[in-house]
Amino acid sequence: MTDANTPAARTVRLEAEGKSLNMPLVEGTEAELGIDIAKLRSSLGMITLDPGFGNSGACRSAVTFIDGDLGILRYRGYPIEELAERSTFLEVAWLLIHGELPTKAELDGFANSVTHHTMLNENFGRFFEGLPTDAHPMPACAAAIGALATFYQQPETEQNVRDTVTRLIAKMPTIAAYSYKHSVGQPFMYPKNQLDYCQNFFYMMFGTPCEDFVVDPVLARAVDLLFILHADHEQNCSTSTVRVVGSSRANLFASISAGISALWGPLHGGANQQVIEMLDHIEAEGGDVARFVEDAKSKKGSSRLMGFGHRVYKNFDPRASILKKSCGEVLNKLGIQSRQLEIAIKLEETALKDDYFISHKLYPNVDFYSGIIYKALGIPINMFTVMFAIGRLPGWIAHWLEMRKDPDTRIVRPRQIYTGATKRPYVPMNKRG
Ligand code: CMC
Repeated sequence: MTDANTPAARTVRLEAEGKSLNMPLVEGTEAELGIDIAKLRSSLGMITLDPGFGNSGACRSAVTFIDGDLGILRYRGYPIEELAERSTFLEVAWLLIHGELPTKAELDGFANSVTHHTMLNENFGRFFEGLPTDAHPMPACAAAIGALATFYQQPETEQNVRDTVTRLIAKMPTIAAYSYKHSVGQPFMYPKNQLDYCQNFFYMMFGTPCEDFVVDPVLARAVDLLFILHADHEQNCSTSTVRVVGSSRANLFASISAGISALWGPLHGGANQQVIEMLDHIEAEGGDVARFVEDAKSKKGSSRLMGFGHRVYKNFDPRASILKKSCGEVLNKLGIQSRQLEIAIKLEETALKDDYFISHKLYPNVDFYSGIIYKALGIPINMFTVMFAIGRLPGWIAHWLEMRKDPDTRIVRPRQIYTGATKRPYVPMNKRG
């Protein structure tokens, strides 16, 4: 790696408004190049303008590597395809947070601590009672995770942060299931320690005190796979939110709560819910996929093809490829015929042959097939994005920890190009319009 401080560092020269500046090139371990513009404003008196940050790196990071043109996604160097096939979600969570795959002893210890932190303080029941009965589980989760900070108000020592990490991973499925139970008016189910992470989630979601509930291992493994695929995606909107909030030294609970809120948006994690709604809409309109694709191209109203397109992937999203295969397998195993899957496949085929989608490099993303699987597993639509949040949690945590340890971290405070009114005198009320 070429360090910007080494004498051999390559530079980029910028000349503007009669001044010039040599800026070092920064190179990552996968040969990605960036221009270090730290001296730009102080030397040239100007800033960069990059809405949506499509060309701006906010940090150096060793967590996840994506090559959007080649469809590569790796957590800590390990290809997503291998992790999806051979790993478990808790193993991947450890990998993201600690940087290495766990030994058997480390994984057993981690799974054990997570299992023993799944219960919520009994007062949490009353927290949920304060919400309307039809509360969407996503803001309920964001609020509940924020509220967890009130139960753990210790100073931020290394040990306390480690405990917070365990608590968050352990309690997130409980909070998610409680948010759902509240929305359907059923009693909360306490976690069961003999169940593993995903089985426990299903139990808390669908079990009731009235009868025994046996979790189908096919469902638990399918959710485990989805969580692995969601676990991290470098500097996406919600992860950047977590980093931005954490850069002010806000605690981990507050930062994660903000990340959940960011994920809720329909252009981000909320897209999986929108995909199902879109497929239902196409079905209700007579299943005319070609017409829907035409509408999406014409940019009429809000007719974007949900689950299509990505800021980074311009060839294919490797997560979507894994999910497409898994979707067929899960539906087969469960013996489910899905009209939505049929429409989705037709939609994908139609769009991938269409010049607009080809020229705009728009391909199915992770959300295109995840909603169909969640639906087949019996997960209610308004819980889809919550599922994404449970999966993304270790990634958010890994980035927050990395950001906190990075000596280059400063409070995030972008600049702007001001376009408002120039200085003008105050207008008294009796002289206004
Ligand atoms: N359907 C139709 N046209 C699209 C779509 C789409 N899904 N996505 C982008 N475009 C067009 C867009 O209209 C624009 O066209 P033009 O250049 O002619 O004006 C061009 O493609 C570039 O679009 P953009 O909005 O500037 O691209 P972006 O990189 O800012 O946005 C995106 C990426 C994912 C927000 C966008 O593709 C989108 O809205 N997709 C649908 C929502 C979705 O599926 N989101 C989930 C993302 S993956 C999971 C996650 O990480 O959260």
